[in-house]
Amino acid sequence: MKSYELREKYLQFFASKGHVIIPSASLIPENDPSVLFTTAGMHPLVPYLLGQKHPAGRRLTDVQKCVRTGDIDEVGDATHCTFFEMLGNWSLGDYFKKESIAYSYEFLTEVLGIPREKLAVTVFAGDEDCPRDEVAANEWKSHGIPEDRIFYLPKEHNWWIASTTGPCGGDTEIFVDTGKKVEGNPSPAEDGEKWVEIWNNVFMEFYRHPDGTYTPLSQKNVDTGMGLERTLCMLNGYKSVYETDLFADIIEKLEELSGKKYGEDEQVTRAMRIIADHMRTATFLIGDEKGIVPSNVDQGYVLRRLLRRAIRFARTIEIDSALLTQIAQMYIDKYKGVYSELEMNKEKILTEIAKEEEKFSKTLENGIKEMEKVLKWVQGDTLNGKTAFRLYDTFGFPIEMTVEMAAERGYKVDLDGYKKAFEDHQAKSHAGAEQKFKGGLADTGERTVYLHTATHLLLAALKKVLGKDDIRQKGSNITSERLRFDFNFDRPLTDEEKKKVEDLVNEQIKRDLPVTCEEMPVEEAHKSGATGVFGSKYGDVVKVYTIGDFSKEICGGPHAEHTGQLHHFTLLKEGSSSAGVRRIRATID
Ligand code: SER
Repeated sequence: MKSYELREKYLQFFASKGHVIIPSASLIPENDPSVLFTTAGMHPLVPYLLGQKHPAGRRLTDVQKCVRTGDIDEVGDATHCTFFEMLGNWSLGDYFKKESIAYSYEFLTEVLGIPREKLAVTVFAGDEDCPRDEVAANEWKSHGIPEDRIFYLPKEHNWWIASTTGPCGGDTEIFVDTGKKVEGNPSPAEDGEKWVEIWNNVFMEFYRHPDGTYTPLSQKNVDTGMGLERTLCMLNGYKSVYETDLFADIIEKLEELSGKKYGEDEQVTRAMRIIADHMRTATFLIGDEKGIVPSNVDQGYVLRRLLRRAIRFARTIEIDSALLTQIAQMYIDKYKGVYSELEMNKEKILTEIAKEEEKFSKTLENGIKEMEKVLKWVQGDTLNGKTAFRLYDTFGFPIEMTVEMAAERGYKVDLDGYKKAFEDHQAKSHAGAEQKFKGGLADTGERTVYLHTATHLLLAALKKVLGKDDIRQKGSNITSERLRFDFNFDRPLTDEEKKKVEDLVNEQIKRDLPVTCEEMPVEEAHKSGATGVFGSKYGDVVKVYTIGDFSKEICGGPHAEHTGQLHHFTLLKEGSSSAGVRRIRATID
């Protein structure tokens, strides 16, 4: 089966069960400063799992792009990917365990044709927070899943939460037999080679608080997730996800560029998989509707690490890393039918990758030489922190790369020493924090600064005129000529609405409201009702800009001192940016 068939079959099946198909959200979370990336389909839906009304209803389904970098060291094996697509369906306070299991069973056996005999499931074993899930177990039994294929497991395995706090609950996970011959009856937790997990149905009925206590949610939800790559691999009987149509031609291209054969040599195979995985993730991160570029902080740093790692592995199999843009181009072509943002941001993707490649390949060889020289003199088995910092600062080696390269040569790295060298340097140059919040500002001339303030007024005006408090910034780009602002909204604005927005902004300019700035921890900023978060984590101190009684946003600034400085606001154009996202161009004069 091909990827597009599985996506289609999944969405159509749940649509036939009354679910509304919603578009994938951005990879950069909108309202959750505690994580850098969207890691599951439920992520963008958290407010709705907590009880807010979703405009599309109570039964939803989608294919969500996700990035998880926690397992980056595992990439290169058969199944781990840093980017993946999650097929998901949700009940927001609608159906619960029985229907959820019935739908999953029907989809797997009837639509995908997996024989019942090949399925096994796990259910929550129960503890002081939540009882043993006999309801789920009985439902599985009613579909003919035998008792010895139902495994009861504790929280460690059968409880799902996105991070440490938030909506959560016991889950039932669905596994498919790989055909491995085994002794006895090992559970999926005991034998991950016998059983491959393909689907996770979470019964979200609790909220976990920072102190570790649970309270019931106002509604009982179902949140399911099925990994597209892994399921395709299983359905086709492949040994690894790299054999699926999502990767097969990329691997072929890497064979052509390197003159080496995939599958013959372990190192070559691993390198090709790492390059294929990392280049795909990089393509999606830069090409995202809220796309990022390589940098030294937050998401930009992760992107930089992925690209530099791909570049390094390309070199190990004698691929000229300048050719990696060809791989990105192939991914754009492959995915643009599903994710149109890739085609829209094509130039940006290719340019950013080429820029990063140029920057890093200049220093990579010298950095490797430097590392090898230093290792010759090392006493013991540990590379000192100052050297690790020099490799970062002078040669652009992300610390994770230094650790990996040192390990390949049998050495460790003094990470505490690295951290200390890093902090000493930061204290001297004081570079860090300010950069982080520059957001969409291309330069900070007077007009750009004022246009930035106009952007805040525009967002607040859109919320008021359209009567939707959940309108968020989806992207912003400001030059000295104009502002460009993307926001979530599902239809074009009427001429009347555009006029009202323009008038409302101009009214605030006339009122000459003061623009004030306060610094506070991000949690407090949220509590005070400020919107807009760009990659800040809990505990970070952020700036909150308040414009009179009209707007309050977390932002790095800089801004006008009072709105009168903007003179007059003109909305130039409103149009579609991507599915569910509108784009406004406006200027001031
Ligand atoms: N949120 C659950 C998971 O990521 C189900 O989608 O596994």
